[in-house]
Amino acid sequence: MSAQVGILYGIGVGPGDPELVSLKGLRLLKSAPVVAFPAGLQGTGIAQQIVSQWLRPEQHQLPLKFPYVQEQAVLEQAWQVAAAEVWQYLQQGDVVFVCEGDVSFYSTFTYLAQTLQQHHPDAQIQTIPGICSPLAAAAALGIPLTISSDRLAILPALYTVAELESVLKWADVVVLLKVSSVYEQVWAILKAHQLLEHSYVVERATLPQQVIYQDLHDRPQLELPYFSLLIIQVPRSKSANAN
Ligand SMILES: C[S@@+](CC[C@H](N)C(=O)[O-])C[C@H]1O[C@@H](n2cnc3c(N)ncnc32)[C@H](O)[C@@H]1O
Repeated sequence: MSAQVGILYGIGVGPGDPELVSLKGLRLLKSAPVVAFPAGLQGTGIAQQIVSQWLRPEQHQLPLKFPYVQEQAVLEQAWQVAAAEVWQYLQQGDVVFVCEGDVSFYSTFTYLAQTLQQHHPDAQIQTIPGICSPLAAAAALGIPLTISSDRLAILPALYTVAELESVLKWADVVVLLKVSSVYEQVWAILKAHQLLEHSYVVERATLPQQVIYQDLHDRPQLELPYFSLLIIQVPRSKSANAN
């Protein structure tokens, strides 16, 4: 490996409010010659928008395309292309990849880093954590996410809605990510378990467009954006009954 090869930094830039970026992440972001980010449907993407105020014209911005599909072959092809692009820039110096929320929490960065390392085992990769969306949503709601001996389950609802019933038997707190497209199914399950009044939805936590729904009784349907999550606080008696 050449001595000039840079480090790939994966930086979690938090859930939306730019003031929630870590000092370390900001320092690395400001000094990197290349700033990569997942290209959103409109080209820039939310991570790039979060850090845009700190980007300097001389920094090269590198949007990487990660398609919003489930076909493994299509995804793997995109990771290969992105890793090859990043590797090219690493020959000249450090590359920062900014990621919405935390970089180790359901993040595209993981696939990028794994693919890069498959092809270049000596590549240096470092991750800088960020504030992930469940924690930001709890703060927006003004509730603790967990206390005492609470058992927390986090599910990407889009893929796991069928598992919700069994999770409700043991978890004290359930967070459903990627809930927007399966919200109606989730609502029906919450209704059956009498959990609607113990459930919250937070859209775009910490952004100016943040919206909160508490008690979902009157909301069997909601047009939610992709950046929404649902928190269920299962009353102790319900989760404990199952044990
Ligand atoms: C691919 S995951 C990325 C998670 C992200 N890395 C994190 O640390 O939160 C995307 C899902 O996270 C949740 N999410 C991320 N940011 C959010 C925000 N600001 N407000 C509400 N939900 C958010 C949504 O459920 C969304 O569908």
